[in-house]
Formats: sequence, C-alpha cells, structure tokens
Amino acid sequence: MSTFKAPKGTYDLIPPESAKFLAVREALSAPLRRSGYGYTETPGFENVELFARGVGESTDIVTKEMYTLTTKGGDELALRPEGTASVLRAALEANLHKSGNLPVKLWYSGSYYRYERPQKGRYRHFSQVGAEAIGAEDPSLDAELIILAHDAYRSLGLRDFRILLNSLGDKECRPVYRAALQEFLRELDLDEETRARIEINPLRVLDDKRDSVQKQLVGAPMMRDHLCEACRSYHEQVRELLTSAGVTYEDDPKLVRGLDYYTRTTFEFVHDGLGSQSAVGGGGRYDGLSEMIGGPALPSVGWALGVDRTVLALEAEGVELELPPATEVFAVPIGDEARRVLFGAVTELRRQGVAADFAYGGKGMKNAMKSANRSGARFALLVGERDLTEGVAQLKDLGSGEQTAVALDRVVTEVRARLA
Ligand code: HAM
Repeated sequence: MSTFKAPKGTYDLIPPESAKFLAVREALSAPLRRSGYGYTETPGFENVELFARGVGESTDIVTKEMYTLTTKGGDELALRPEGTASVLRAALEANLHKSGNLPVKLWYSGSYYRYERPQKGRYRHFSQVGAEAIGAEDPSLDAELIILAHDAYRSLGLRDFRILLNSLGDKECRPVYRAALQEFLRELDLDEETRARIEINPLRVLDDKRDSVQKQLVGAPMMRDHLCEACRSYHEQVRELLTSAGVTYEDDPKLVRGLDYYTRTTFEFVHDGLGSQSAVGGGGRYDGLSEMIGGPALPSVGWALGVDRTVLALEAEGVELELPPATEVFAVPIGDEARRVLFGAVTELRRQGVAADFAYGGKGMKNAMKSANRSGARFALLVGERDLTEGVAQLKDLGSGEQTAVALDRVVTEVRARLA
C-alpha cells in the first residue's frame, strides 16, 4: 500500500468493478444518442460566479458544497458541482442557439464535485450522465426527457424505481405562491436556520426531512393549487404524454429540488433500495437560467442521472449486467521463438477486433495458464516448440478443456468463427 489514500468521500474505479460503471454510462446515454442529443464536454472547472448565479446563491450547493479556488492569475474558479450551468454557458458561447435549429439538444457525462458529508451513495466526487434541451417550450420535450431516463433505467434491468413529478410554476405564479407559503411558515415553531430559510428560499423548507418540521407542514399551501392557467395546462400535457407512453409517475406536490433554476416541470427518479440517498436522477425545466447567466430568453429542460447511485441500485436489486468479456483469447507461449510468433498472432487478433491478451513477463506454463483462467478468456492459445515445427497453435476452450490444433496461418479465422 502507498502512504496515500483516495481523499475522503471519493473512491477509485478499478477492474473488474469499473467495467460495470462504463456499461452504466453507456446504457444511460444510449437513449439520448438515439434521440438527437449531441455529445458535449465542458471543463471540470468554471468561473465561480456561473454557479453562484446559475445554481443559486441560497442553495446548499453554492453556500456549503463548492470546491472553490483562486488561481495564481487571480481568477475565482469552482470545480463544477453540476452540469447544467456549464453546458448552457457553452451553448451560448458557441452561439448554438442562433443556429436556427431549436431546441439545441446536448448530452454529457463526467465527474462532478460537491463538498458534502460523505455516506453510502453520497460522495464528494461523483459521476453523472446528463442531457439538456435548450431553447424550446414544449411539453413533449419535458416528456421526452423523462421517458428517455425511464427507458435507460429499464434497459439496465432496474425495476424498483419511481418517478416523482411536480410543477414549480413560473415567474407569474410562483411569486404569489412563495408569499403565501412564507406567510404560512412564519407562524410555525422552527429553529433559527429554518426561519432564515423562509425568507431566502421558502420552498426548500418543504423538503426538510425532520419529522418535527414535516408534522407542522400539514396544511401548507402547495404550488399545485397556485399554478396559473398556462402552467397548469402545460403540466397536464406533460402528464398525459407520460401516461400515453406507458410511463407511470407519482405526483409529488412537495418535490422541490436543491437547485434554484427550476421552473414548471420538476422530477426525480428515486430508487427504493438505496436508503436515504435514494435519488438516482433528477431534473426539470429551467426557463430563466439563460437570462440569469447573461444570455437571451431560452426556455430549456434537462436532467442528470447519477452513475454511482445507479450502480448501487443495480446491486440493491441484484441485477447482474451482461458485460462483454475483457479478454476473449489469452496467448501462452512456451519458449522464445513461440513468444515471438504468438505475439504476432495476438497483434493480428486485436487488429481483427478480437480482445486478446498475452502471458507477459516470461511466466512458466503453470502461471501463464493461471493468468489465462483469471482473465476470463474463453480460449487459451498455446504454442510450444513442437507446435512450431508443425506450424500449429493449440486452441484450448477454457470452459470445456477441449483442445484443437489450428494451423498458425488460420488462427484468426478459426478464433473468429468460434467466437461468432
Ligand atoms: P442533482 O439532483 O443535483 O441535479 O443531481 C442529479 C443526480 O446526481 C442525483 O439524483 C444523484 O443521483 C447524483 N448525485 C448528486 N450529488 C451526488 C453526490 N454527492 N454523490 C453521488 N451522487 C450524486 C443536477 O445536478 C442538475 N444539474 C440536473 C439537471 C440537468 N437539471 C436540469 N438539467
């Protein structure tokens, strides 16, 4: 072991577990790639102001959880705590919204950083796959995104997740609701920090997990009873589209998300096998964010799905992913000349698309066969001195133990035929 360990709240992805993460990223993004979303990558850090303005000055993410730094040049940066503000910033900077082709649909995958209290499912470095559809106000776009996330989880074999759905209203109806909620909350018996929250971000109080608070919230005014006609009709259309796509959801009038930019549709995917960190993904509409970061009005909607928690959800449901073998053929040479010949065969196999590995380091036959078995390969390819004089290699099925001599110049053809 080295003297160093992975920093608190982080963990390393190493084989064989890491293959599962790759497969999950692939599965979460596959429906997006089939639906017109283009791949986007932004830097791991941004100007701190982007998140302060975008995610919200009063959110936990901005006040408590950002990793901020001042560069030698005096720039105030933050490691990205989420992807939406960055992706929208990138789209605006590249003028994608002026292409005449709205919505601009983008997807991304990467690392995010939040200085949170670590526990199972909550890390300081975590991974998301996200999608943003920028510049269109259309209930079918909201529905599309929810359906795509639903289908992604299903494609992985997940069953025990639920979709919570709410509308947070818009700039017309939310301020009226906010005032009504504040009036209600000010009458409650709450601690000082929560009282302060009533003034800054009263909707977050609804999200308080403590029983003592939840008990007092019975009878609190709910956004859904204060939606203006436009928001109510929009939300109704999203619900109808989900239902006709066979996607079931639960109306959750108390669903408020931890980021300030949301308007209208908000949703969360929760998994029942994950304990307190049950949100495997979440998102919603953010019609005002572009203007908040200095852009034009661009109504948009998106989500991010947590890769780490999706892997935990698979484990909780006992779902084993069918992963392609890392190695299909493992080559075991006996002697120097065999090593040279077999190395050539391995190179050719790889060039022809066969996953092949080699017993490096001059191992003896016994150790080399151990490596072959550990690699999970279907076949070992052995060449000894006698094989060389006969111009053959021994192709051994590591499952059945059956061994066949194959002409050296037919190894690639034979292996490919058997793998097919
Ligand atoms: P979020 O709800 O903050 O939304 O994060 C989305 C998902 O990332 C969560 O549901 C969870 O699975 C995962 N996640 C968040 N924090 C952690 C953590 N500390 N450890 C492990 N996993 C975590 C957003 O980030 C928004 N940008 C989503 C969005 C996109 N809204 C519109 N567009």
